[in-house]
Amino acid sequence: MTTDNNRKDFPLLQQMDTIYLDNAATAQRPSCVLAAVQEFYEQKNANPLRGFYPLSLEATESYQEARKTVQEFIHAKEPEEIIFTRNTTESLNLVAYSYGLNFLKEGDEIAVTIMEHHSNLLPWQMVSRMTGAKLHYLECTSEGELTDEELQKGINERTRLVAVAQVSNVLGCVNPIRKITEMAHRVGAVVVVDGAQSVPHMPVDVQALDADFLAFSGHKLMGPMGIGCLYGKRELLEKMPPFLTGGEMIDSVHRDGAVFAPVPQKFEAGTVNAAGAVGLAAAIRYLQEKGFDYIQKKELELTQRAMEGLGALPYVHILGSKDPANHTGIVSFTIDGVHPHDVSEILSSDGIDVRAGHHCAQPLLEYLGVRSSTRASMMFYNTPEEIDALIESVSTIRRRMGYGE
Ligand code: ALA
Repeated sequence: MTTDNNRKDFPLLQQMDTIYLDNAATAQRPSCVLAAVQEFYEQKNANPLRGFYPLSLEATESYQEARKTVQEFIHAKEPEEIIFTRNTTESLNLVAYSYGLNFLKEGDEIAVTIMEHHSNLLPWQMVSRMTGAKLHYLECTSEGELTDEELQKGINERTRLVAVAQVSNVLGCVNPIRKITEMAHRVGAVVVVDGAQSVPHMPVDVQALDADFLAFSGHKLMGPMGIGCLYGKRELLEKMPPFLTGGEMIDSVHRDGAVFAPVPQKFEAGTVNAAGAVGLAAAIRYLQEKGFDYIQKKELELTQRAMEGLGALPYVHILGSKDPANHTGIVSFTIDGVHPHDVSEILSSDGIDVRAGHHCAQPLLEYLGVRSSTRASMMFYNTPEEIDALIESVSTIRRRMGYGE
């Protein structure tokens, strides 16, 4: 049923007999990523950053090349501003533990948007509890817009840190990061951007955004699981203490203390996920070959089709913006009288994989007055036929649940 040329690159997409529309949870991996990981283990496997023998030096070189690939991809000034972590969650926790706990205090405010994934909320709840800094929620409109008025009210002279997703994992809306960094910097606050849902789908330039920190995961952009990145401005990273301590993050250790290594090593304690980093670099190169012009055009067409088809069903309600261009391939919806878990089970019985629940963004769903939703999330390798199958299946659900229509 699928004729899309991209799919030949994805072994699992070729084998699977279901329609995969859960790309916001994790994307599929092209063969080149799998090959890069295998090649690392087959030809370069040694512990990087330690040995002085050729194999270890080669492993180190591959690892550092991957860092450079990430740096260029998100337009960071220097490779040292890229820290490899396990995932977005770990990156955000690194900032919370290392920056938040050390530079925030009672009387300060942390501004967090109501639409944050729990990963960019729970760390700030923790910092608030531990330091006494107050958590302030920036609320959005039902379409997901953070209005100027709301931003002005929430980012004030007490604000020391703003935590914001570039793209919401529920609504798919794109937040005005540049505007937020300008407002935050005017009052001396830093901005922590969750890029998990943006970096795989749009060009991201951390310097143009003037973001202080940006976190993202490899697995959502077709790289391996277990590798993620934190971008941080060098001057901030340099003044932050390490998050985890241990091997290879030091210059020297003595009985009564240690001198830590310069960034980024200071933040990469223990054996690193070099194969993951190499796989992530391969995913980035693959994505760059496709090009964001192509990717965004394709994902917009799929989103438009989904929103038109689902939106035409009177009992379906799509969350967020009415504009498909402000959805980043994410279409979350509810169906009158049917719980999203039933929706996803019925879709699954028709061979369609989606996510249902609160999507790790419970405060947003509570705020919007829905307890949970069904989410279809697209990637450029999905096809119009797959979207039509989703719409067709959704159109039968109420009938199958015993309603008249
Ligand atoms: N954060 C991922 C999602 O939104 C897992 O599904």
